[in-house]
Amino acid sequence: MAVLRIRTIGDPVLREESRKIENIGDEIIRLAESMIETMRVYRGIGLAAPQVGESVSLVVVPSREDWEEAESVAIVNPVLSRLKGSIMGEEGCLSVPGFSENVKRSEHCVLTGQDLDGNEMRIEAQDFLARVFQHEVDHLKGVLYVDRLSPLKRQFVLKRIQRELKDRE
Ligand code: NI
Repeated sequence: MAVLRIRTIGDPVLREESRKIENIGDEIIRLAESMIETMRVYRGIGLAAPQVGESVSLVVVPSREDWEEAESVAIVNPVLSRLKGSIMGEEGCLSVPGFSENVKRSEHCVLTGQDLDGNEMRIEAQDFLARVFQHEVDHLKGVLYVDRLSPLKRQFVLKRIQRELKDRE
């Protein structure tokens, strides 16, 4: 288990379409464990493999709505379904450090996939957890939450982020 380096906006790996995982071997299990550790250390609420530089279909997310209490679970090849409703809420991302914006998401969704033993998993989520699931699955498609903003807002935010990240160098 290791704390992995978080890739930030501008890194091309965040824009790739993630590969489906055909075989859950030691490498994937190690990656998932390190992602959970990395998420804990950086106080993230959800992390997708591309954020640590691995373009594979794997996320770690809270297992229940009371995410502060819930244990984190790894989900292999996650798929969203039953997206319903629409709600605005604040969102941030470890790959876009120091920023948060209001993003429109579905209010309800179901996440299915496999656990690290290859068992089918299904988690039904509302509100905040549903938001986390949608955000993480977006990462696997190379989509960041800033892409979900209106074009004008997105441009404004991206400029501000570029300026900010340059100042930090
Ligand atoms: Ni994110």
